[in-house]
Amino acid sequence: MVTDEMVTVMENRSLTGGHFLLSLHAPRQARSTRPGQFAMVRLLEDSSVLLRRPMSIYDVRSLNSAAECATRSSEDGMTGIKPRTASSNGDRSELIQLLYKVVGRGTQLMSELRPGDEVSLLAPLGHGFFEEEYLERAKQTDEVWHVAGGIGIAALLLPAKSLAQAGIRQKLFFGGRTKEDLVGVEDFEPFMDEIVLASEDGSRGYRGYVTRPLEKALDSGYDKKLLLMACGPWAMLQATVELAKLHGQPCLVSMENRMGCGLGVCLGCSIRVKGEGHGSYERVCTEGPVFWADHVIWEKESIPKI
Ligand SMILES: Cc1cc2nc3c(=O)[nH]c(=O)nc-3n(C[C@H](O)[C@H](O)[C@H](O)COP(=O)(O)OP(=O)(O)OC[C@H]3O[C@@H](n4cnc5c(N)ncnc54)[C@H](O)[C@@H]3O)c2cc1C
Ligand code: FES
Repeated sequence: MVTDEMVTVMENRSLTGGHFLLSLHAPRQARSTRPGQFAMVRLLEDSSVLLRRPMSIYDVRSLNSAAECATRSSEDGMTGIKPRTASSNGDRSELIQLLYKVVGRGTQLMSELRPGDEVSLLAPLGHGFFEEEYLERAKQTDEVWHVAGGIGIAALLLPAKSLAQAGIRQKLFFGGRTKEDLVGVEDFEPFMDEIVLASEDGSRGYRGYVTRPLEKALDSGYDKKLLLMACGPWAMLQATVELAKLHGQPCLVSMENRMGCGLGVCLGCSIRVKGEGHGSYERVCTEGPVFWADHVIWEKESIPKI
């Protein structure tokens, strides 16, 4: 169930390359989150940022598990997590974690949040990766291949965890401009059978776009039934979708269009799709953010900007 709540910042950890991991105490929203859903964050302190900022829900955790992680990473002295309220059940999720990159005014203000600050959080939103239909398809495959570009990685951790629980083999292709963009790799390691990294400057992994090693893997006579799940910049999504089509493999894409309301009202996030819908458009915030790639019409200029 979607709720709009005032939630407390527990930690806002600085990572490499202007990325941050924000932990918010939001038990009700954390417990109703499904993999691939997102949240809208509204900053209360600054009236110059009126619109909420959409962010994938990277992870949901119990306070205890997050505190353990924070203890492990506290050498940098940046942790703010202290379990203030004892969880009645250690494995009940109370925290929502958002992994974000500073790109403008809103995310800059987010990066200045400190433990104890409050934000307004509208969550969980969208259908995510685990519509029945998607899950059934994943179960029929030999392997799920995740393809992430930059901060698109944030949409894929919860799906990866759930697929691992269902015993599905997984591989991650993850690319960024430099090694500093390759954040969160260690969070994926327990759930992946293989991780392939790429950076445009060659500072970590394959030098170039991540779609190059993906293409090689698809080309190398791969005879398995795959499901591709992709999230990242438009060009990477488009290239991934073309490769999937060429190799006859199904592909789900998580779209990150600019958003206004997040609730299906303003139509600012609409994308062109094939067949019926709202005319030939569907809203990323409500019908998405995850779509079958062959349902989307891949014309960048057809995406209205708000
Ligand atoms: C469903 C969804 C999930 C998202 N998940 C994440 C996430 O997990 N982590 C994360 O860091 N970001 C995520 N984003 C993108 C994030 O919402 C934007 O980066 C953020 O709103 C920018 O706000 P700002 O005020 O800092 O930047 P602005 O001042 O609004 O914009 C700064 C620059 O960023 C560009 N920009 C703004 N919004 C987007 C967007 N949606 N896609 C591409 N470029 C954009 C602008 O064109 C401009 O160049 C997601 C977006 C959507 C729609
Ligand atoms: S953001 Fe308003 S309809 Fe999707």
